[in-house]
Amino acid sequence: MDDSKTPPSAAKGRNLRDQLETSTPGRREFNFDRKHFDFIAGLLYKLAGISLAPHKIEMMYSRLARRLRELNLKDFDAYCALVESEKGEAEIRFLVNALTTNLTSFFREHHHFDHLAKTVLAAVKMSQVQSGQPRLRIWSAGCSSGPEPYTIAMVLCANIPDIRRWDARILATDIDTHMVDTARRGVYAAESAKTIPTELRDRFTKPIRTGSEPEITMADELRRLITFKPLNLLEPWPMSGPFDAIFCRNVLIYFDRPGRTTVIEKFSTLLPPESFLYLGHSESLYGVSSGFAQVGSTIYRRTGP
Ligand SMILES: C[S@@+](CC[C@H](N)C(=O)[O-])C[C@H]1O[C@@H](n2cnc3c(N)ncnc32)[C@H](O)[C@@H]1O
Repeated sequence: MDDSKTPPSAAKGRNLRDQLETSTPGRREFNFDRKHFDFIAGLLYKLAGISLAPHKIEMMYSRLARRLRELNLKDFDAYCALVESEKGEAEIRFLVNALTTNLTSFFREHHHFDHLAKTVLAAVKMSQVQSGQPRLRIWSAGCSSGPEPYTIAMVLCANIPDIRRWDARILATDIDTHMVDTARRGVYAAESAKTIPTELRDRFTKPIRTGSEPEITMADELRRLITFKPLNLLEPWPMSGPFDAIFCRNVLIYFDRPGRTTVIEKFSTLLPPESFLYLGHSESLYGVSSGFAQVGSTIYRRTGP
């Protein structure tokens, strides 16, 4: 499991101050002990279903110490009191954003996209061959800063030449509102486009420069397929499906078993038989659900109730 907060749009690594804080707790600027960790970790679990193990204490400190400075707070007691207060709602959103892990990349776990093209798209094309407007719905649940839904959109556009005629939509959601804004903006460090196959990179990205570093922006052809929305997977979901495929990769790993089970049960209600669920490389449905058959590495086909 990684604990990087850095999306590809800003892959610069931690600054020296963070490293010092992380490696030398004795020289911390603010007193931060187990009671602060437990209070904040408890909130994160309640709000986002994320269980932070005690060895994440330094990660939590370094991400939140910055925030104390910004807010001019004298210590973590004051920060915890702020979070608990009536004015704490906005701060709680900040806290969830700061403590979630957003590492992602284009074409991450490439075999999922080969399967999407060869199996899912092929089956949808076949089953709706007579339809004037074939329907396709894919959900990127826990989309982080956006490379995952843009990758799905590239695969769709590259494999469905008449996609404009289709009723095709990709839903991209994440609990981290900052990540959803970044995803919607669709501008990334040029460096991060290296994992996109050259032909697709040339076709679907355009070089731009908004700051000192070279960047890329995603083609309108991709953007028009995707709807970006903030959504906490542990809160009620507004959509009714059905989906042809759900990508929920490298998200459930942060949940405990009851959290994972709740989310998978809800996915099941939106996935009809013969649809697919893609999980992250270290995740599985073992002991969580029996309504799926594993058909590839972290690829699951919906079988029954
Ligand atoms: C490591 S990223 C995975 C990004 C992408 N799916 C991938 O595999 O490249 C995990 C994402 O899950 C999101 N997340 C964590 N808890 C969540 C929750 N309760 N509801 C929705 N998203 C959540 C985080 O904000 C983060 O962006």
